[in-house]
Amino acid sequence: MKIISVVGARPNFMKIAPFMRAIAAFNQIQPISKRIEHLLVHTGQHYDSRMSGTFFEELAIPEADINLGVGSGSHAEQVGQTMIAFEKVLRKENPDWVVVVGDVNATLACSVTAKKEWVKVCHIEAGLRSGDITMPEEVNRLVTDRLSDLLLTPDKISSENLRKEGTTESRIVLVGNIMIDTLEANRDKAAALKIEDIIASNLAKDFRLKTANPDDEHFALMTLHRPSNVDDKAVIRPILRFLMDEVAADLTLIWPVHPRARKQMEEFGLYKEVSSHPKIVLLEPLGYHAMLRLNMGARIMLTDSGGLQEECTILGTPCLTLRWNTERPVTLKEYGGASVLVGNNVERIREEYHTALAKKRTPFRPPLWDGKTAERCLAAIIKAS
Ligand code: UD1
Repeated sequence: MKIISVVGARPNFMKIAPFMRAIAAFNQIQPISKRIEHLLVHTGQHYDSRMSGTFFEELAIPEADINLGVGSGSHAEQVGQTMIAFEKVLRKENPDWVVVVGDVNATLACSVTAKKEWVKVCHIEAGLRSGDITMPEEVNRLVTDRLSDLLLTPDKISSENLRKEGTTESRIVLVGNIMIDTLEANRDKAAALKIEDIIASNLAKDFRLKTANPDDEHFALMTLHRPSNVDDKAVIRPILRFLMDEVAADLTLIWPVHPRARKQMEEFGLYKEVSSHPKIVLLEPLGYHAMLRLNMGARIMLTDSGGLQEECTILGTPCLTLRWNTERPVTLKEYGGASVLVGNNVERIREEYHTALAKKRTPFRPPLWDGKTAERCLAAIIKAS
């Protein structure tokens, strides 16, 4: 059997690493004739070392066999160029399966291309639905799931979403959350890092540190990158005011800044004031271990990332999710998780911020988020072949 796995952007790397390890482990105990031939394709959507290269090194992902070199661009440009390049790969390599993960543009582009070439598609992290079609990721999820032959879901709610859309039962397999495989495999390495070393070696370009290094439970951790939060000055400005005037009055605020957020803040003339605040620490995008280490010690997380909501749930870090909806309801406190939806309205963020500050760290593990999801993914593919 020949499998091509696809990655494109940062959140894909932690999902593909355990899957590739599962294939390697499988191959070790098989006779040569039964081994899986595997190729890793990187579309190149994220290309710089902080958004991509670091994760390959830290998570011991072998270098991609093929890099499509797509780079930055509009959605149509990224998807279109990926499809053109990936079609050539499929025609040359003729795989039995294409495995896509998550909900980024690579997921959409490569699943559509594979189906047009009559190649079977397996989607890992299927069935997530935010119900918000204005999110580019929701478009990617809907199309990918509609086309995929095998839909591997992280939780019961996601399986149920697929059933409601009329997906045949035989295509759905609940496998758990593959990202948690990576978290469990890297906990010890992350725990060994020191906060001061992470800060010292990742300061944002042109940023000068003005505050002492915080101890565990004495800092807030923040990430922001969604277009809905960072692309509109009227939305991002009041959030930044709240961070500077209120959060940073209580705690040191550590913020690894996504390139999109930095670009937008600079364009809106907001970056200077944030970067000169005495209690805000601006960092470059962090590697996997550094981010996990900070999450382990943060008093509170403020984020619009999907993956961090899940990691906070496992680690128990109180998490304010700066979105009005989530495709990951299992991470919400109603279901036992650590996250609460606060949107981008400052009144609401403030209220939940104070509630979250009063909360203790309470780890929660949804069923099958046990570090063994990748093996179940591979078993499901073999069974469906
Ligand atoms: C993409 C994903 C999103 C994911 C996020 C994680 C889609 C639709 N979106 O959004 O789901 O949560 O990645 O980061 O696929 N840039 C760099 N270096 C890089 C890559 C990008 O500086 O290596 C810059 C680009 O020039 C661009 C910005 O970052 O200005 C955004 O990159 P882009 O790939 O368009 O999407 P993300 O917002 O990162």
